[in-house]
Amino acid sequence: MAARRLDGTAVAARIREELAPKAAAFAARHGRPPGLGVVLAGSSAASEIYVRNKLKTVAEAGCKAALFRLDESASLDEALATVRSLNADDTIDGILVQSPLPAGMGKGAEQQVFDAVDPAKDVDGFHAINAGLLVQKRATLVACTPLGCIELLEREAIPIAGRHAVVIGRSDIVGKPMALLLLHRDATVTICHSRTTDLPAMARQADILVAAIGRPGFVTKAFVKPGATVIDVGINRLDTADDVARFFAEGSAKRRQFAEKGSVLIGDVHPEVEEVAGALTPVPGGVGPLTIAMVLRNTIAAAEARAQ
Ligand code: GUN
Repeated sequence: MAARRLDGTAVAARIREELAPKAAAFAARHGRPPGLGVVLAGSSAASEIYVRNKLKTVAEAGCKAALFRLDESASLDEALATVRSLNADDTIDGILVQSPLPAGMGKGAEQQVFDAVDPAKDVDGFHAINAGLLVQKRATLVACTPLGCIELLEREAIPIAGRHAVVIGRSDIVGKPMALLLLHRDATVTICHSRTTDLPAMARQADILVAAIGRPGFVTKAFVKPGATVIDVGINRLDTADDVARFFAEGSAKRRQFAEKGSVLIGDVHPEVEEVAGALTPVPGGVGPLTIAMVLRNTIAAAEARAQ
């Protein structure tokens, strides 16, 4: 039987509807809307799209949304100076520095920039203080993608407590906070990564399997226990006919889409997983819209917390 499709687009739309009145109430109380400042350095096509969607969502909910661009050649000092000016701006409640930063800023630049953000404005939850507060289950601002995954599970009434959750990927942005959020909801959590022995066997133990690896179609049927819930965090672009043919059958919608547009998106989960999973997030239209809704939620939460 085909897996139940967890419709992130629809869930995110409901969340945005719930949040817009909160933004309006804040504006009425404080004489200004909650404000988000987004820093985008360089010109990655994917980052451009993510940032545009974040700004649009936040603005449409009645918040202020401002973009601060830096050149691909910008220095780490310029990025830090931009963040400091946003820290000092009282109309800005949330600051988000889109990752990845240009490689030219040097190794370790990203965490330096994240740590320069005022923790009270850190809507990504990437600051060391917010990461630490998450470990202790007392964070106000939590990384948006894992938070969105939890929101989707809860709103789709997928039980977490007592279930075995396996997270593939150990990044600071997704894997680690995802594991903690599942743990705080009483899942038994296993974190897997590139050095895990017999990864498919580990993954097959999961009632909830989260794929956050960044490799197209990596999670095949061999990784999935029949009936498991599979959350696909990956967003990968395929732009050759050979790659598309490796994953999608002739006559499929994705093949048609490739013929029209020259590229298609695929997650970290192979399309064949639909045949064994109990529930599955599509790509696009799964986790992505939830991440963006959580940027809005965190912006309003940061504004409310700062106003107290
Ligand atoms: N790049 C990929 N995901 C994210 C995210 O959640 N936040 C930021 N700032 N950059 C990202």
